[in-house]
Amino acid sequence: MAERFYITTPIFYPNARPHMGHAYTTLISDVIARYHRLVGDETYFLTGTDEHGQNIARAADRAGKDPQTFVDETVRAFATLFTPEHLNISFDQFIRTSDQEVHWPGAQELWRRLDAAGDLEKRTYHGLYCVGHEAFLAERDLDENGECPDHGKAPELVEEENYFFKLSRYTDEIKRRIESGELVITPDERRHEILALLEQGLEDVSFSRPREKLSWGIPVPGDESQVQYVWSDALANYLTALGFGRDEKLMDFWPADYHVIGKDILRFHAAIWPGMLLSAGLPLPRNILVHGMITSGGYKMSKTRGNVIDPMELIDAYGGDAVRYYLARHISPFSDGDLTLDGFKDAYNANLANGLGNLAARIMKMAVTYLDAPVVAMDETFNEVVEGEYRYHLEHFEIHEAANVIWNRIGELDAYIQETQPFKTIQTDPNKAKDDVVYLVGGLMGVAHLLAPFLPETAEKIKHAIQTHSVPEVLFPRME
Ligand code: MSP
Repeated sequence: MAERFYITTPIFYPNARPHMGHAYTTLISDVIARYHRLVGDETYFLTGTDEHGQNIARAADRAGKDPQTFVDETVRAFATLFTPEHLNISFDQFIRTSDQEVHWPGAQELWRRLDAAGDLEKRTYHGLYCVGHEAFLAERDLDENGECPDHGKAPELVEEENYFFKLSRYTDEIKRRIESGELVITPDERRHEILALLEQGLEDVSFSRPREKLSWGIPVPGDESQVQYVWSDALANYLTALGFGRDEKLMDFWPADYHVIGKDILRFHAAIWPGMLLSAGLPLPRNILVHGMITSGGYKMSKTRGNVIDPMELIDAYGGDAVRYYLARHISPFSDGDLTLDGFKDAYNANLANGLGNLAARIMKMAVTYLDAPVVAMDETFNEVVEGEYRYHLEHFEIHEAANVIWNRIGELDAYIQETQPFKTIQTDPNKAKDDVVYLVGGLMGVAHLLAPFLPETAEKIKHAIQTHSVPEVLFPRME
């Protein structure tokens, strides 16, 4: 039976150009979303941008622009990256938190609900604020130089009035939901990490900033002197996109089936967000899928190290499907993954130019030459064992393993050509050669079918070639 399926990416800070990490998180979400559509689920896929907060306000300031003008420009780089001509992300909605019609009413409604539950309280706060994290840090989070280890900067000492969200109240309930599996966190390593944090007990969190210090944000309902803390604003996007607090016509999609996130934002999604939902009396998401970080040459990508790889440049050189291929197959969601230009080119030549591209061309050349009519390649030709494994992996966040299933199948079909050599037997035993080619075309159709969530454009080209009984254009030219 078809089910409703709601999947989200994190929303991105548009203070710099999109990088490989952003491309990765979005791509694996897209593969899962496309897979669910393929199996008939009524799927809703959300992505977008997180546009408030101090970081953005400062970046706009440095650019000499007002924040709204600044984000209106910088968001375009993300929107462009996701178009069908580039990364080809099949999102149903692209939400922007600066959108006062779509996002603000629900973000404020959520605030009101927390307030009505008695979970918001104004307190004077002394704390260490890391602008990079957009979060307060504890002394124990700092390195030996008193700096934030992730951002290499000393946090700012802040003393101000803030509303606090009484997250500590929800420690036990969140723990219970995670332990019982009502809220699943994948992989286990991350589940344990969050359970260890819950074991220590959650602290209340600052949920607003004084407007005089930071005006770029959503006004706190009923208190014009404060704006919502950027995370309370941002997390609400998963609900506001469905019309929460506005026009609830998509609210049937809640709770989310999957929030896909990077491990750096686990605490926000697996502690603060469930706390907010419990306070508001809303169901918790079913799954949080947590991936690792992408490095290059073993190091975190950074401008100073000069190892930043721009997804747009790779797409321009190799095509969107090639970048989708690499991210999906050569990086495991469960660990940090490395990407270098040389590694990318080698994988491309070996598995796309040679592997897949070559296989499709060889099979279709034989088909067009030896067979009079197109092979009506149906899904029966498709190996059930292969499909079973593939599904299992895709349903367990093992994106790279699902991709491996496809390339194993490509290897098997290659081997079949080597063994049966239809290009020789066509002289000695033409019926046998034709049968073998029919089998190969069926196999290729199966591959195209499996490829659809991963390399949608290539999958279409292959299916088209089979249906029109023609040799496809060169799918992946060799790169020197
Ligand atoms: N705006 C917040 C998320 C709010 S969600 C309600 C944010 N934005 S971000 O632009 O910094 O990061 C967005 C996503 O990209 C996160 O999932 C983060 O883990 C991911 N990545 C950022 N750098 C990354 C790598 N180098 N590698 C893999 N993913 C990375 O956090």
